[in-house]
Amino acid sequence: MSRKRKQIVIGRADLQPGERRIVEVDGRSIGIFNVNGEYFALHNRCPHMGGNLCEGPVTGTTLSGDSAEFVYGREGEILRCAWHGWEFEIETGQSLADGRIKARCYSVTIEDERLVLHL
Ligand code: FES
Repeated sequence: MSRKRKQIVIGRADLQPGERRIVEVDGRSIGIFNVNGEYFALHNRCPHMGGNLCEGPVTGTTLSGDSAEFVYGREGEILRCAWHGWEFEIETGQSLADGRIKARCYSVTIEDERLVLHL
């Protein structure tokens, strides 16, 4: 049975909604994001060609729908890789373009007002 290791990284107050912080933990670069008061962490390596995924812009995306118009939504929930523009859901790491591709995620919990990464 594998056990995940916990690593305290930053205080909760140091990451406000809409902000991100990139930390180095055990030789891994990991981006931690506050999306509307919830915390998520992604490996800072894009599954496409290895770009620094977590350094790309946090955006929304074009929503699918029945209308012929482009509807923009999910502002602040999407991370766009700066290298080639692939979009990923911050919460899950799921690629929006290809359901088979995911960025690596780590769980984040709060302990004593500190954010804890589970590696
Ligand atoms: S390396 Fe991220 S989209 Fe290509």
